[in-house]
Amino acid sequence: MTLTTTLSPPLRGSYTLPGDKSLAHRAALFAALATGKSVIESFPLSGVTQAMLDALTAFGVEWSYNAGTLYVLGRGIYGLQRPSEPVNCRNSGTTIRLLIGAAAAAGVPCTLDGSEGLRRRPMSRVTEPLQTMGVAITTAANGCAPLVLAARAATTPLKGATIQLPVASAQVKSCLLLAALAAAEPVTITEPGPSRDHTERMLTAMSVTVRHDTTINRVTLTPPLEPLKPLHSKLAGDISTAAFLIVAATIIPGSDITLCGVGVNHTRTGIIEALTAMGADITITPQPDRSGEPVADLHIRHAPLKGITVSGDLVVRMIDEFPIFAIAAAAATGQTIVRDAAELRHKESDRISRLCNELKSIGVTATEHPDGFSIATGAPFGGVVDTHGDHRLAMSLAVAGWISQRGVTVKNADIMTESFPDFTKVALKLGATVKID
Ligand code: S3P
Repeated sequence: MTLTTTLSPPLRGSYTLPGDKSLAHRAALFAALATGKSVIESFPLSGVTQAMLDALTAFGVEWSYNAGTLYVLGRGIYGLQRPSEPVNCRNSGTTIRLLIGAAAAAGVPCTLDGSEGLRRRPMSRVTEPLQTMGVAITTAANGCAPLVLAARAATTPLKGATIQLPVASAQVKSCLLLAALAAAEPVTITEPGPSRDHTERMLTAMSVTVRHDTTINRVTLTPPLEPLKPLHSKLAGDISTAAFLIVAATIIPGSDITLCGVGVNHTRTGIIEALTAMGADITITPQPDRSGEPVADLHIRHAPLKGITVSGDLVVRMIDEFPIFAIAAAAATGQTIVRDAAELRHKESDRISRLCNELKSIGVTATEHPDGFSIATGAPFGGVVDTHGDHRLAMSLAVAGWISQRGVTVKNADIMTESFPDFTKVALKLGATVKID
């Protein structure tokens, strides 16, 4: 599919966000490890969450989906079944990294693999600390998937450990916390920054003892003696999906939209803080929490932006939002600089070089740094871009077209369905111009 976006009229109206993908991955997987039936409302079906659900099927987990609600029959921590063939995690880094932690706890032998893109992403960051905990696991020679896990008897617990992660990563932390469910002693993980804490909150709701000291980014899980309680929850809306609409409404003159039910967990709201520092007009109206996750309605009106510098902990708290943040930066006056973000090179694409190259091809002045990028004033002129198999790059470039002089044509735009299958439909509903070929 090729998608073309051109200068857009103001965005108007309201939209209720689908459930958050990070929460959805966790809810489906943790429910599979619980004892009893879980009911998860606002479950978002997209490429990456379907990858998790299909992988769970391969491990013998029964689930069903009806009208936005996912039902999962838990098998218990040690109940996953041996898959009959390598499990295909497709394009989903969260699926492979979280699932290997759960499989390590269960002691179930398996091979986890995925797409060519997934096979390029580093996995030794999970396998090495798992080995410290006594897990027998190997990667391919380059430290990437496929991951091969050997069997372990449920009567042989994993080892307790104190682990210092070199890079803040919720996927790595969550993998190790899941493995810790089958450890003999507590497992403590310390990170250099505040990665998202959905695993800590959800496991706590399932009656696991998780101590989280947010002042020093340290978490300790005490292996449970009782089975995990099933989940009965409604997922908070996806702030990473909302980010595309927040930026679009901010940069398209005359826009005025409301986004309902957005998850505003502090570990995810970096994008709101960064845009607000640039001058964005975002009003946050708190709504009742959903299963320990804070939720709000967001009212966004067009506003002129000025460039800022983003670095340090803020980077971790908006780690998935840099492609769309770059579009806001292109619409701002003055220079925007992103530092301390080398981790962006290990996402669905190298989100520093791919992003800068595609932005340059539509006339934005973008400069690559080893650990980030700079963007100078100048709205995109327009042109033809590629997505490089990256759903967030695809949607960000489409948003750029709405303020461009000549329009932006996004080739291979189907990749958007990985995370936001309704992107085009919602954009049209809010009044944007989108053409599909
Ligand atoms: C995620 C964590 C982040 C993020 C990814 C989802 C999660 O990755 O980029 O899209 O659900 O835990 P890292 O934890 O590797 O930074």
